Amino acid sequence: MDIKDVKQLARERMKGYCNVCRECNGVACAGQVPGMGGAGTGDAFKRNFEALKNVKVVLRTLHNSKDPDTGIEVLGQKLSLPLITAPVTGSGINMGGYLTEEQYCDAVVEGSKAAGTMAMVGDSGKPEFYVAGLDSVKRAGGEGIAIIKPRENDAVIERIKMAEEAGVKMVGMDIDGAGLVTMALFGQPVGPKSVEDLAQIKKSTDLPFILKGIMTPEEAELAVEAGVDAIVVSNHGGRVLNHTMGVAEALPAIARAVKGKITILADGNVREGVDILKYIALGADAVLAARPVIWGAVAGNEDGVKTVIDTFRNQLYQAMILTGCNDVKSIDESKIVNLNAVK
Ligand SMILES: Cc1cc2nc3c(=O)[nH]c(=O)nc-3n(C[C@H](O)[C@H](O)[C@H](O)COP(=O)(O)O)c2cc1C
Repeated sequence: MDIKDVKQLARERMKGYCNVCRECNGVACAGQVPGMGGAGTGDAFKRNFEALKNVKVVLRTLHNSKDPDTGIEVLGQKLSLPLITAPVTGSGINMGGYLTEEQYCDAVVEGSKAAGTMAMVGDSGKPEFYVAGLDSVKRAGGEGIAIIKPRENDAVIERIKMAEEAGVKMVGMDIDGAGLVTMALFGQPVGPKSVEDLAQIKKSTDLPFILKGIMTPEEAELAVEAGVDAIVVSNHGGRVLNHTMGVAEALPAIARAVKGKITILADGNVREGVDILKYIALGADAVLAARPVIWGAVAGNEDGVKTVIDTFRNQLYQAMILTGCNDVKSIDESKIVNLNAVK
C-alpha cells in the first residue's frame, strides 16, 4: 500500500465526510463539525492552510547534508521523525463509521508505533471512547499519550490515574475543548483553567504533561508558570472556534516567548514532510498530524497509518537534503521565508 492507495481508498470509504482533496484546505468540508471540517464557515481551518502555505522553504544544494537524521527525542521518548499522531475521537460521527472507535484507536496506536513514533488518544462526551484509546495503548505496551478534555479537576485526575494504569508515556489536556457546552448536557462539564488548576493537575502525576490548544505567547508563559512540560500550538484544526489565526502565524511569537523553557509542539495542516520542516523552522520542536492519519487508518488500519507516517518521514528526509539540514536541530528560520511576517 502506498500513499496514492491510501488517498484513493479513504476517498471512497469516507464519501460524504471527506473528499481527501488534492489541497486539504478546509473549503469542501467547511462547517462539517461533526465531520472532518472546520467550524462555521471553516475560516480557522482555511487559515491554517493559508498561513502554512505562506511559509516558503529555501532550496540549497551546495552543502554537506547528504544523509540527514530525521530522528528526535521528545520528553524522553526517541522518535523516528518529529511527528506524533494527534488525538482524534468519534470515528462514527466524524469519519462516517467505516471503522469502530476501537478499530480506529488500534490502527493509529499500532501504526504510529510501527512507524517509530507515538499516537495521542483523545477524550470525548462518550466516556467509552477514552477507554477505547487507553485499551489500545495498553495493548501496544504503553506506547501512547492520553489527552483529556478540560473537565473538572477531580475528573481529569481520575482519568490521569486510568492512563497511568494503562502504562501511557505522557498525559495532557486539550484545553481548547473548554467551550464544548454540549458536554455539560451529558453531565460532564468542561471549561477554562487557572494556573492553579493546571499546577494541581500537573502535580498529580510524574508523567510529562502536555497542554494542547495554546495560541498566544501570554498563555504559553502561563503554561510554563504552571509547570507544564509541553504545549501544542493549535486551534484544534479550526474545529472549536471560527476565525482564529492560523497556527503558522501564531507560532513564531510563542516560540520567541518560551522556546527552551517548555517543549513546543504544533499542529494544523501538516500534509507532507516539508510541512514538518516549516513548523520546526517557525519554532516548534515537533508537530502533530490528524486528518492524514485518519485517511491512513480508514484505508488500511495499522498499515495505512504506517504508510502515511513513513511517507512523511521520506519527504522530510528529502526536504532536509534540499534545504541543507543534517539533523532536526539544524532546521531553523534560515531555512524558510515567512511571508506571514512580511507587511
Ligand atoms: C475528526 C476529528 C476529531 C478530533 N478529535 C479530537 C479530540 O478528541 N481531541 C483533541 O484534542 N483533538 C481532536 N481533534 C483535533 C486534532 O487533534 C488536531 O488538533 C487538528 O485536527 C489539527 O490537525 P490536522 O490539520 O492535521 O487535522 C480532532 C480532529 C478531527 C479532524
